[in-house]
Amino acid sequence: MVSSSILVSTILLVFFSTTILCSEQRNVTALLHDCYEKQIQMEFFASNVYLTFAHRLAYDGVYHGFADFFFESAEEEREHGKKFLDFHNVRNHVSHLRDITISEELSSIITVNEMLRKAKTLEDDVFSNMRTLHGYAVEAGHSETVHFIEKVTLEEQTIAVKQMHDLVKRLDHNNNSTILLQMMDQDLRKKKVKQP
Ligand SMILES: *[C@@H]1O[C@H](CO)[C@@H](O)[C@H](O)[C@H]1NC(C)=O
Ligand SMILES: *[C@@H]1O[C@H](CO)[C@@H](O)[C@H](O)[C@H]1NC(C)=O
Ligand SMILES: *[C@@H]1O[C@H](CO)[C@@H](O)[C@H](O)[C@H]1NC(C)=O
Repeated sequence: MVSSSILVSTILLVFFSTTILCSEQRNVTALLHDCYEKQIQMEFFASNVYLTFAHRLAYDGVYHGFADFFFESAEEEREHGKKFLDFHNVRNHVSHLRDITISEELSSIITVNEMLRKAKTLEDDVFSNMRTLHGYAVEAGHSETVHFIEKVTLEEQTIAVKQMHDLVKRLDHNNNSTILLQMMDQDLRKKKVKQP
């Protein structure tokens, strides 16, 4: 009797602990999918924000170099987003571009200084999500996605992050000097600011 009740409780214990383990197990495929969609969303979001900045600067008519810089950055982010979409599409996944909303706070940014700092944060966010995405792809054994991120998108994003960080670093070292911004703008007009 005793041994059978021990057996029963052992079976129950094994059953419940297995159940608990399973329910605690994360569905990495679902996490990967959500993170992938978020990545696409973030790329197009950054693109729209840069477009907003570019138009603002073009309208003000002072910093034409930075206006062009943000137009080009918007185009780059759009290209990145499209690469993620294309990668998904050829593998028969449908991606949904849900609301991409530019908040009042973002659209009310009017100084180049603040725009560059915001751009740096956006690039950091995009990079951070890409790292998370890469982690999920590895965990899920999704080798094609791992390869795609490592060979195509990670390098591009690393360059974009470095570019924004360099610009903000120059501002920091010069106390946000307007003269520096004007010089940078002239350089951008002459395309003298090299893409790293
Ligand atoms: C994990 O998520 C995927 C995608 O959402 C789904 O198709 C699959 O059924 C889920 N698996 C489990 C074990 O919940
Ligand atoms: C920036 O400001 C600090 C403190 O006002 C000053 O010590 C420093 O010389 C300034 N740097 C530049 C490059 O103007
Ligand atoms: C430069 O501008 C940023 C953003 O407005 C601000 O947070 C920072 O304190 C400024 N730095 C200096 C030295 O004025």
